[in-house]
Amino acid sequence: MRMVEIIEQKRDGGELSSEQIDSFVKAYTAGEVPDYQAAALLMAIYFRGMSRRETVDLTMAMARSGDQLDLHDVVPFVVDKHSSGGVGDKTTLVVQPVVAGCGVPVGKMSGRGLGLTFGTLDKLESFPGWSPGLTLEQFKRQLGEIGLVLAGQTADLAPADGKLYALRDVTATVANVSLIAASIMSKKLAAGADAIVLDVKMGKGAFMTTLDEARELARMMVDIGNDAGRKTVALIADMNQPLGHAVGNALEVKEAIATLKGDGPADFWEHCLTVAGHMLVLAGKATNLEEAKKLATEARDDGRALAKFRLMIERQGGSADLVDAPEGFELAKYVEPVFAPRNGYVASIDAGVIGWSCSRLGGGREIKNEPIDHAVGMVIPIKVGDKLDKGDQIGVIHANDPFKLDLAKVELSKAISWSDQPIEPLPHFYDTVT
Ligand code: URA
Repeated sequence: MRMVEIIEQKRDGGELSSEQIDSFVKAYTAGEVPDYQAAALLMAIYFRGMSRRETVDLTMAMARSGDQLDLHDVVPFVVDKHSSGGVGDKTTLVVQPVVAGCGVPVGKMSGRGLGLTFGTLDKLESFPGWSPGLTLEQFKRQLGEIGLVLAGQTADLAPADGKLYALRDVTATVANVSLIAASIMSKKLAAGADAIVLDVKMGKGAFMTTLDEARELARMMVDIGNDAGRKTVALIADMNQPLGHAVGNALEVKEAIATLKGDGPADFWEHCLTVAGHMLVLAGKATNLEEAKKLATEARDDGRALAKFRLMIERQGGSADLVDAPEGFELAKYVEPVFAPRNGYVASIDAGVIGWSCSRLGGGREIKNEPIDHAVGMVIPIKVGDKLDKGDQIGVIHANDPFKLDLAKVELSKAISWSDQPIEPLPHFYDTVT
């Protein structure tokens, strides 16, 4: 394999053969291709795209790059979910405990922050001591014993994706339909899911900014899943405004805990209920979505979901006391409100601006493996369509640096546009692809 030739071919708009894709994935995983060549290829793919055949080849090569899990010795049926990523998207933190609370065991390998989105592992590391680093044996044992595991991608599972994911995060090569589809589906196939619910986000705070792109991504992933014999459903959800109120690692964890206690933002709970509902239907726990949502609501209301979450934190070494008393999470040095500059209806809240702003506050990474600041971010309690008076609070910034605080205040104000006329609230979901 000549790496320069592969890069050149894709740069010039050519189609890569199955052998070329397979050789690249094998060599990069083995450390035989340097990051600068892999980054050049990713950028060429970003601009030139991949055919459906190339995308399937990339997915399968990445899924084969490590172990292929079989969890059926521990659980009879494996149902999993994955989000394509969004601002304030803390869905996994609520959905997995709710589904586990309904008696369906869920073990998920989650990721770190990517671009303008924050990752489940980074969020959970806000719990001092909590570790995502489980061996496959530990993963299986915990899944069998308590029915809930949220772990990092082990070095043995789709390691090619693990390496490419970290490289894409810092080379502005995330937002490509084929790269996202291959990244998500390689992990899900390797992790042995029998059924998969894909939560595809569309809007300014997502990697897919139009409905057409989101549909293309959803269709591609559903086809890959079904071709591989896994029951796959994709939901297309709105991401033009942040999901829920909190954006930032510990802030999102606190909001997830509040939601598990029945106190979360309505839009976020509605989102979780729908994702959890589809998982319960696929797992055979309910015959339709309405029945599944009822089961999920009961598991939240009687505390089963919260108890699962607490147990998972404890088993993975985290300070579970913080689940009971989340005010104990370390606060940022500066916690300052921002106010509405005028009377009016909220016409838009640019989730992209908010996501990047929270990343610059220190919540995300600029270079690979950089440490992040768990305490920083924003809490924005308003939604598109709300009517506000001048001086009402539009958000609270949590910062550890006075200059970054000032910048974030300006960015939050600029992210919001206003109207004198009433504005329709945004929908939660646009479509379901089966
Ligand atoms: N989530 C992933 O796992 N991979 C992507 O590329 C985007 C979101």
